[in-house]
Amino acid sequence: MSRASQGDSETEGLRKVIDFVEDEVPFEPGYYNEAYLGRRVAARMQRRDTDDHTAYRRILERDDEEREALLDALTVNVTGFFRDPDMWADLRPVLRDLSEENGRSGVDVWSAPCADGREPYSVSMLAADDPDVDERRVHITAVDISEEALDAARAGVYETTRTTNIEEELAPLSDPTAYVEQEENVFRVRQSVKSRVEFEPYDLISDGPKDDMDLVFCRNLLIYIDTAYKEQLFETLRDSLRPGGYLVLGKTETVPPGLRDDFEAVAKRSRIYRYEG
Ligand SMILES: C[S@@+](CC[C@H](N)C(=O)[O-])C[C@H]1O[C@@H](n2cnc3c(N)ncnc32)[C@H](O)[C@@H]1O
Repeated sequence: MSRASQGDSETEGLRKVIDFVEDEVPFEPGYYNEAYLGRRVAARMQRRDTDDHTAYRRILERDDEEREALLDALTVNVTGFFRDPDMWADLRPVLRDLSEENGRSGVDVWSAPCADGREPYSVSMLAADDPDVDERRVHITAVDISEEALDAARAGVYETTRTTNIEEELAPLSDPTAYVEQEENVFRVRQSVKSRVEFEPYDLISDGPKDDMDLVFCRNLLIYIDTAYKEQLFETLRDSLRPGGYLVLGKTETVPPGLRDDFEAVAKRSRIYRYEG
């Protein structure tokens, strides 16, 4: 078989799996790019010892657990406290400026998507940890499409495992014990940190913008989104910001060309932008 036709049949095979997902799994594959969907499906197929899409679709049809496992694999929720520490260092002056601004009732932050809550809790901890930020003025709304992720986020309990070192993740804080209660490998976020964060289910592609936000985080979602939806999602982010508000993207994400005039980079490498309004 030539390389091109092998590619075609793989695409067709993947289509069969995606069509099934569309109909039977609570996930909207149309939002995501095909390369991403292909990688996630291939990883599950490998776990089930098959390289044949038709055979894998049959497994999905009869096996509830595999449908759950595929849903899990598709909604990647990798995250961490202070993920990309350099960005968090660059964020301190931004947060200080925002908390000092007069004439506004407070600092409204949107963490979108928040996965298991470690991103919005990082904002809440940073606000309390930085002596020049008035944390009482900071209020964080954290959203995600996954109810499971939101349940974990509300619980605020994290564990150090072979692949996740919570103590290391909290290293940017001057005194992590002020913000988490540690019992061996288990870390519980303290109520004082939780009290500044509110969690809410949200589909960032179809639920539209929020209003008048001072600081919006949208990190590590755009990389998976199909080009056709990227600009729409970006408009949602832009329309959620008040003029002069800030947007933070993931380390490998950028503002799409059609919206570049609306944003000015304040810390280019850290992907922190100011909305010109
Ligand atoms: C890789 S995590 C990013 C978490 C955090 N922002 C970070 O950078 O560490 C991606 C999250 O996006 C969520 N997600 C996927 N599609 C979404 C959508 N359409 N609306 C809202 N959240 C979505 C997933 O459930 C997952 O928790």
